[in-house]
Formats: sequence, C-alpha cells, structure tokens
Amino acid sequence: ISLKPYNTFGIDAKARFFIEISTIANLKKALQSEIHPDLFIISGGSNMLITKDIDALVLHMNIKGKEILKEDDEHVYLKVMGGEEWHDTVLWCLEQDYGGLENLSLIPGRIGTAPIQNIGAYGIELKDTFVSCETMAINDQSTKVFTKEDCQFGYRESYFKNKGKNKYIITSVILKLTKKNHELNTSYGAIESQLAAWEINSPTIQDISKAVVAIRESKLPDPKVLGNSGSFFKNPILSKKEFDIFINEHPEAKYYKISDGTYKVPAGWLIEQCGFKGKRFGDAGVHKNQALVLVNYGNATGQEIIGLAHKIINAVFEAYGIRISPEVNIINNPC
Ligand code: EPU
Repeated sequence: ISLKPYNTFGIDAKARFFIEISTIANLKKALQSEIHPDLFIISGGSNMLITKDIDALVLHMNIKGKEILKEDDEHVYLKVMGGEEWHDTVLWCLEQDYGGLENLSLIPGRIGTAPIQNIGAYGIELKDTFVSCETMAINDQSTKVFTKEDCQFGYRESYFKNKGKNKYIITSVILKLTKKNHELNTSYGAIESQLAAWEINSPTIQDISKAVVAIRESKLPDPKVLGNSGSFFKNPILSKKEFDIFINEHPEAKYYKISDGTYKVPAGWLIEQCGFKGKRFGDAGVHKNQALVLVNYGNATGQEIIGLAHKIINAVFEAYGIRISPEVNIINNPC
C-alpha cells in the first residue's frame, strides 16, 4: 500500500503491512501480532519526511473521541483521543468558548502527535494547556500516564523525541482550558497587525483564531494543495557568546531574545538571505512565502527533499557559521 495519502509531504513510499487502528483494543492486538518484527507508527503524517519504502508493520493511528473529565466555573479538563485532528479539536473548543488553543489554529496533524514536538505557534505552545497524556508501551502494551513534567517539554522537544523515542504510543491527551477570563495572547506582531487591520480592539478567542488562520494561510502552503511538513528546520538557538559574534558580523539579522539569555534566529530569514526562497529543484522546492518550509511540487522523492535540505544546511553554515537542523522526523535517513 502507498503511504502517499498518509503523509502531508505526499511522498509515495510503500508500506509492507498496514493496519488501521481505531480502538485501544485494536492497538494492543496489533502490537502483539508477529506480522513483522519492525513497527512504524503514522498518525497525521504531518511532521515526517519518508525517504524509503517502509519494510515494517505500519499502524495508522485513528482512535477518535473526546470527553469532558471535569469542570468548574473557570476551567474544563478535556480528554481528546489521539486520532482526532488537531485543528478540528481547536474549532470544537472555540465553538464551546473554551480558551487556550486559539493561537494554535490550523496546525496540521493530530492530537496524539502534538506532545511529541510540543507544537507551538504565535506565542503559545502545547505545554501551556497540557495536563497529561496516556500512552501504551510498545514493548509490553502497558498503559502509562505522563504528566506535563514527565514529558520534559522544550522548544519543539519532549521526552518522546529523546529518551522515550519509539517506546510509547500516545493514545489520548488531557488539556486544561479556560471557560471564562480567557488569557489572550496577542503579543505576536503579526496577530496584532491582523486584528488592527480588521479594526478589532477587544478581541475574543474566536477573533484570535481567525487572525492566526489568516496569517497561516497567507504564509504557509496548504498540504492538500502542495505537499509539505510545515517548518522543515528548527530556528537555531545561539548562546550569548555565539550571538555576539554573529550579530557583530551581521547587524541586519532578525532575532528574538529568549528569557534564559539565549537568542533565537529565524531559520527562514537565514535561508532567504542565502537565496533559496521560492527556488525549485525538480519537484523539490523552498516555499515562496516562507523559506522555512520545503515543498513537494508533485513527485519529489524523500531523497530529493533531503538533498535540498543538505544544500540549504551547507549554504547557511558557510554564510553564517550556524548549523540549522531539521525539525521534521526524517524516516530512515537522519540528516
Ligand atoms: N522570515 C524571513 N523569511 C522567511 C521566513 C521568515 O525573513 O522566508 C523572518 C520573518 O520576517 C520574521 C521571522 O523570520 O521576522 C519569523 O518568521 P515567522 O513569524 O514566519 O515565524 P518562524 O520563526 O519562521 C515559527 C515556527 C512556525 C510558527 C511561527 C509562528 C519554528 C521552526 N517555526 O516560524 O511553526 O507557525 O513561528 O509562531 O519554530 C511549524 O513548526 O511547522 C511552524 C509552521
């Protein structure tokens, strides 16, 4: 079976065996099966680049459902199963007037993979509303709950990308959302300008979501139209010492100061300066509105996209002495 419909990059790799998982019981059974010694878990397929056919048992995580666990006047604890689409969940919360996810509107992918890289955008990260997640251990099918602390969240990081890699499958997530007195985060310049352009002075959470959707639609390609995995690279973080050298040589650079005294430099800016924005090499390319996003114009292979990624990494390193690294999961062929 081709995995093309199951990964947003639209890479046409083949899976040796494929099982759709729609219940926890199914998952347990599939993990106990001996169809193939190797496993490969796919969910929204929105943060991976597949570079080879997958000679393994592929489990497509599709467990649906959500439930309110408890609530009081101010907060609601919402449990969402891993196979729910992230953006549908955000929209559902906005319909109920539950606040906390609005800045994370329109992020591709599903609930169960959101904790893996602590998805974040426009001043908010998953960890800001995350309470815990339930997992199934791949080796013995036991259930384990991870609290926010256990998850060791960082910028595009978590335990599940490090020590816990390939050990657990996240089956559901619990979020703590506000029912009133929503804490609005409009600090991101682009949100402020969008709201100002619409002449909205006291925005609601729904207004913020609309602003984020408008910004994302103007910059980021829709994976249904043009294959991509969002930001392909992480924004590099420089120590104060590294930053001082960098900014002295490139005073025109864009950057943000982080509270821990380090500095984040937008990789999109570095890549654009190196002349890659909007460039196309066969069917692999760099998006015209956001240089951080690599795109598949139709039939690019994973290897072609990787080739382009290496070209970019080398060019940025030569020009700026900064080694940017991928944020997408590269399957079978780490960068
Ligand atoms: N920039 C350029 N050229 C570009 C792209 C960006 O000069 O081609 C400059 C912009 O002008 C701006 C700065 O870089 O000054 C930051 O750009 P932007 O606001 O678009 O954000 P980003 O740092 O490029 C990050 C996330 C996005 C997230 C946005 C908004 C990462 C790796 N990416 O991008 O996340 O939506 O901030 O919060 O942190 C994703 O992870 O898939 C993703 C899209």
